Amino acid sequence: MLKTLAGYIKEFKTASILTPVFMLLEVVMETVIPLMMASIIDRGVEVGDIRHIYQMGGLMVLTAGFSLFAGIMGGKYGARASTGFARNLRKAMYENIQTFSFSNIDKYSTAGLITRLTTDVTNIQNAYQMLLRMCTRAPASLICAMAMAFFINVRIASIYLLAVIVLAICLGLLVTRTMKYFDQVFKKYDGLNASIQENVSAIRVVKAYVREKHEKSKFTEASGNLYRMFVKAESLIALNSPLMQFTVYSCILGISWLGAKMIVSSQLTTGNLSSLLAYCMNILMSLMMLSFVFVMLTMSVASARRIVEVLEEQADITNPQDPVYEIKNGDICFDHVSFSYKQDAREMVLKDINLTIRSGETIGIIGGTGTGKSSLVNLISRLYDVSEGRVLVGGRDVREYDLDTLRNQVAAVLQNNVLFSGTILDNLRWGDREATMEECIYACQLACADEFIDKLPKGYETYIEQGGTNVSGGQKQRLCIARALLKKPKILILDDSTSAVDTATDGKIRRAFDQKIPGTTKLIIAQRITSVQNADRIIVMDEGQINGFGTHEELLKSNEIYRDVYDSQTEGSGDFDQPA
Ligand SMILES: Nc1ncnc2c1ncn2[C@@H]1O[C@H](COP(=O)(O)OP(=O)(O)OP(=O)(O)O)[C@@H](O)[C@H]1O
Ligand SMILES: [Mg+2]
Repeated sequence: MLKTLAGYIKEFKTASILTPVFMLLEVVMETVIPLMMASIIDRGVEVGDIRHIYQMGGLMVLTAGFSLFAGIMGGKYGARASTGFARNLRKAMYENIQTFSFSNIDKYSTAGLITRLTTDVTNIQNAYQMLLRMCTRAPASLICAMAMAFFINVRIASIYLLAVIVLAICLGLLVTRTMKYFDQVFKKYDGLNASIQENVSAIRVVKAYVREKHEKSKFTEASGNLYRMFVKAESLIALNSPLMQFTVYSCILGISWLGAKMIVSSQLTTGNLSSLLAYCMNILMSLMMLSFVFVMLTMSVASARRIVEVLEEQADITNPQDPVYEIKNGDICFDHVSFSYKQDAREMVLKDINLTIRSGETIGIIGGTGTGKSSLVNLISRLYDVSEGRVLVGGRDVREYDLDTLRNQVAAVLQNNVLFSGTILDNLRWGDREATMEECIYACQLACADEFIDKLPKGYETYIEQGGTNVSGGQKQRLCIARALLKKPKILILDDSTSAVDTATDGKIRRAFDQKIPGTTKLIIAQRITSVQNADRIIVMDEGQINGFGTHEELLKSNEIYRDVYDSQTEGSGDFDQPA
C-alpha cells in the first residue's frame, strides 16, 4: 500500500525533504533561545551588565527571526507537498475510474467512489502534512529539550522524565480508544453519503412516491450514527487538554519547589531555572503533538486502504495486444455464448446462445423482463465480456478489436441512457465531435427529434440540464438515438429506446432507418410487438435462452410465447408480463 502511495509523492520529493529540514532548523533555534535567556538573566540582569543584555538580546531576536523563517518555509513546503500529493491521488483515481468496465463499476457504489475521491483524499492530505511537519518537529523538540534539561540539571530533569512517562501512558491509552471509534466513523460516512447521493439523485422519484418522511428518517439515522460516534471520539480527545494542563502545572510546581531549594543552596542559577521551565513546556507540547499525529495517522490508514483499492483496481476489459482497427461489416455471430455478471454465480444470465445476423439486417428482440435482452446486446460492444464462447463482429472476435473502434462502430442506445448538461448540439456531438450542423440535423430527422427541437425557442442551442431533466422521456430517447446515429455505426442497438415514443413516431423512425441507413445492422429491443414485427427477423428471449428466431409470420405460427404476446397486445389489454 505504501509503495503505491509513494509513487504519487515522487513529483514533490524536494518539498517533502525540505519540509522536515526546515522543521528541524526551527526546533534547533527554539532550543537555543532559552539558553540565551538564561545567559541574559545570569550574566546580564544579576550582575548589571547592560552590554551583555543588548548583545544576547540582539542575538535572541535574530535567532527568533530565523526560527520564524524556518517555520514559514516548513509550512509552505509542507503545504505544497501534501496538496500536490492529494492532487496526484485524485487525478490517478479519476483516470483509473475512467478505464473501469461496467463490471468494475458494478463493484463500487457511486457514493463510495465519491467519498474516496473527496473525504478520504483530504484525510491523506492532512495526515501527510502532519507527518512531514510534526513527525520531525515533535520528536526532535522532545529530544533536544530533554537533552538540554539534563545538561543543565540532572535532578530536575528527572522530574520531566517521570512526567513524560506518565503522560505517554495516559495518551497512549486515550489514542487506542479513540482509534477504535474513528475506524467506525468512516464506515458511517459511507452510509451517510450513500443516503444523500441516492436521495438527491432520485429526488423526483422520492417526491412522486411521497417518501420524503421515510428518506428524512433514513438520513437522520445515518447522520445521528455519525454524530454519536464523533461525540464519543471527540470527548475522548478532549481529555487530552486537561491531562496536559495537569501534567504541565504539576511539573512547574515540582520544578519551582526543587529549583527554589537549589537556588538557595547555590546549586542552580535563576537563569537556568527559567530555561528549565521553558523546556518543560517544549517537552510536554511535543508529546501532545505526537499523540495528535498518532490519531491523525491511524485515522488515515483506513482512508489510504480505500484509496489504494481504487488505484489498484484493474480494468477487466482492456485493449488487446495488436488490436484490429477496422471492422469489415455489420455481421454479428454468437458462438456458444454463456454469460453471468458474477464469476461465482450459480446460474448463467445467458445460456449457450448461438446466433448469426447478417450485415444490414433489422433484428427485433422481444421477451419478458429479466430474460437477458440487454445482457445479450451489451456483449456486442464489449460492455461486458462473455463468460464462455465468443461474440464475432465482422467475422472477428470482439476481443480482437481496438475498444474505441468497436464502440464507435457498434453504437448502443442503452436502456437507461442519460444526457449531459450542455446544449442539444453539445450532446449530439458526443456521437461525433466533428459533426457538422447539417449532419446533426440529418441525424435528428432520422430519429424524429427535429420536430420538437425546431419548436424550441433556442432550437439546437437549447440548454439541457444535468440528466436531461428539462426534456420529456420520449424527447430524451429521440436525442439519444440521434446521438448514436452520428457515430455512423455499422451496428446500431436500440435497447428499449422508443418505449416513451408514441407508436406513430416509433414507426416513422423505423421506416427512416430502413430507407436511409439500409447497410447498418439494426438490433431493436422492444416490449411492443408493433416495434419489431416489421423487422427482418425477430429473436424471442426466455430465461437467458433463445426461444424462437424468425420472421413475424413464422413466429406467429411456431412460437407460443410470441403468439401469446401478440394476442395480448392486439386485443388491447394486458402486457408482456400479464398476458390477457
Ligand atoms: N449489472 C448487473 N449485475 C448483476 N446482475 C444483473 C446486472 N444487470 C442485469 N442483471 C441480471 O441479469 C438478468 C438479465 O437482465 P437483463 O437486463 O439482461 O434483462 P432484460 O431482458 O434486458 O430485462 P428488461 O426488459 O427489464 O430490460 C436479470 O436477472 C438481472 O437481474
Ligand atoms: Mg433490458
